Amino acid sequence: MKIAIVTGASSGMGKEFVRRLVHSRDSYEEIWLIARRKDRLKAIEKHFPGQKFRLLPLDLSDRDQIDLLEESLLKLKPDLSLFVHCAGFGVMGNISRLPREDQADMVDINCRSVVELSCLLLPFMTAGGRMIYMASASAFLPQPGFAVYAASKAFVLSFVRSLRAEERGRGLKITAVCPGAVKTEFFDRALEYEDLPVYKKLVMADPARVVKKALADNEKNREVSVYGPAIKATRLFAKLVPHRVILRFMGGGK
Ligand SMILES: NC(=O)c1ccc[n+]([C@@H]2O[C@H](COP(=O)([O-])OP(=O)(O)OC[C@H]3O[C@@H](n4cnc5c(N)ncnc54)[C@H](OP(=O)(O)O)[C@@H]3O)[C@@H](O)[C@H]2O)c1
Repeated sequence: MKIAIVTGASSGMGKEFVRRLVHSRDSYEEIWLIARRKDRLKAIEKHFPGQKFRLLPLDLSDRDQIDLLEESLLKLKPDLSLFVHCAGFGVMGNISRLPREDQADMVDINCRSVVELSCLLLPFMTAGGRMIYMASASAFLPQPGFAVYAASKAFVLSFVRSLRAEERGRGLKITAVCPGAVKTEFFDRALEYEDLPVYKKLVMADPARVVKKALADNEKNREVSVYGPAIKATRLFAKLVPHRVILRFMGGGK
């Protein structure tokens, strides 16, 4: 059974990936949708009656719930031809001020779930299969006021680069997607303690465009997918200018 798995499918870019997969040339016998909000997953299923879905309302920060995914995989032994990992969140604010739980939870979902799901899913990936991980432009340099999030996404980028090298022999196409600010529900949680910096409001991208580019870049087996000239310039800047110099001019959160 040829399948695709999308995490973070209940909103934002994950939901947009699902929409594109349903309409893509590649057909999937089943698309497995993972997120905590079951009602949202059911609504997606209802919206695309011609596509078969498997709904997995799981909290990926909970190991026991990841075990439930493992059970389904071992039982059904699917041919996984596309994995998209969008589940994640960020909370803005200085390390000394944010609740410890929020910061640890960011590491859990943004980093630990990447490792656990990759280990779990790699044996089921078909030769030439595709893996897309949502990192962020904040992976390119440290970000005072968004430190844990930026560090967690730097982890994702580094992880993806090594995974690509390790899996080259199997012909897997593996991409880290590194957008700047994208208009999604992400900011409902991100701005719980802080206001959004004005420059981020100016370069807020459309999720549909970011996802379209991510799929196209992954198809070409690009290591990194970066949408928009502002973020491409940021990436170049972060490569050329020493981070200690940039950090001297970066303000922190409150
Ligand atoms: N929006 C941006 O500006 C931006 C920029 C760069 C990178 N990113 C990254 O892109 C990815 C997608 O974000 P988005 O912008 O699409 O945000 P979003 O609309 O808030 O979507 C986040 C998704 O993650 C799921 N999720 C969160 N915690 C989870 C958990 N513990 N277990 C299972 N699922 C969980 C949410 O579903 P439930 O709540 O239903 O569980 C939701 O479907 C994230 O990794 C984010 O860090 C976002």
